[in-house]
Amino acid sequence: GAPRDLAGRRIVVSAGGTREAIDPVRYIGNRSSGLQGYSLARTAVARGAEVTLVAANVTLPDPAGATVVQAESTAELREAVLAAAADADVVVMAAAVADFRPSTRHESKIKKTDGEPEAIPLTKNPDILAELGELRGDARARGAGHPQVIVGFAAETDDVLANGRAKLARKGCDLLVVNQVGRDLAFGTPDNAATVLAADGDAVEVKRGPKDDVADAVWDLVAARLV
Ligand code: C5P
Repeated sequence: GAPRDLAGRRIVVSAGGTREAIDPVRYIGNRSSGLQGYSLARTAVARGAEVTLVAANVTLPDPAGATVVQAESTAELREAVLAAAADADVVVMAAAVADFRPSTRHESKIKKTDGEPEAIPLTKNPDILAELGELRGDARARGAGHPQVIVGFAAETDDVLANGRAKLARKGCDLLVVNQVGRDLAFGTPDNAATVLAADGDAVEVKRGPKDDVADAVWDLVAARLV
């Protein structure tokens, strides 16, 4: 059986991909299936954790033993993650969060016109992962809060490790799971291959295999960093 090294730990995992409404029938979205996030939730439950899974537009069955909260947009995902993160020991942002949203949501369906279509102005979304790092930093500075391990994901196509190291520093997280995308891996496939980078310098490579392999490598590194 699985080690019980996460027993009693409160863990938040976000999974899937956020959708930003353009009008009542259309949205900007992404190809995230939620498989990696669900694998993280399932394996954390198996290792004894109390898991809150914030799911964005995932069609997979709820993992047994996890509390599942649904979110559609980035704003909803942010609310749910920050609420659950307030007393969590670990937060893992596996969701693919839309970087931009349409600046306004049309109340009625946009009609087809004869001429060129109107442009859709975009607004930048808040970076939830960076915000979690800042909240933790603020709490530490006040001598408040409690230690929290923060884990991010990154999908890169080029200079995977160098970009990953830079992102890890920029976002202020403890671990960053870097996926190479584009080689029929990561999005929508049952398999994954990744390098998990740690802020303290560690790097663990997970060879191509089931997404549970990446999840267990993440939990091994997390368990070693919990106080
Ligand atoms: O910057 P990039 O989108 O590559 O970073 C990916 C990581 O940041 C993922 O862990 C993702 O969940 C998180 N993220 C976020 N809020 C955003 C964009 C990404 O939390 N607005």
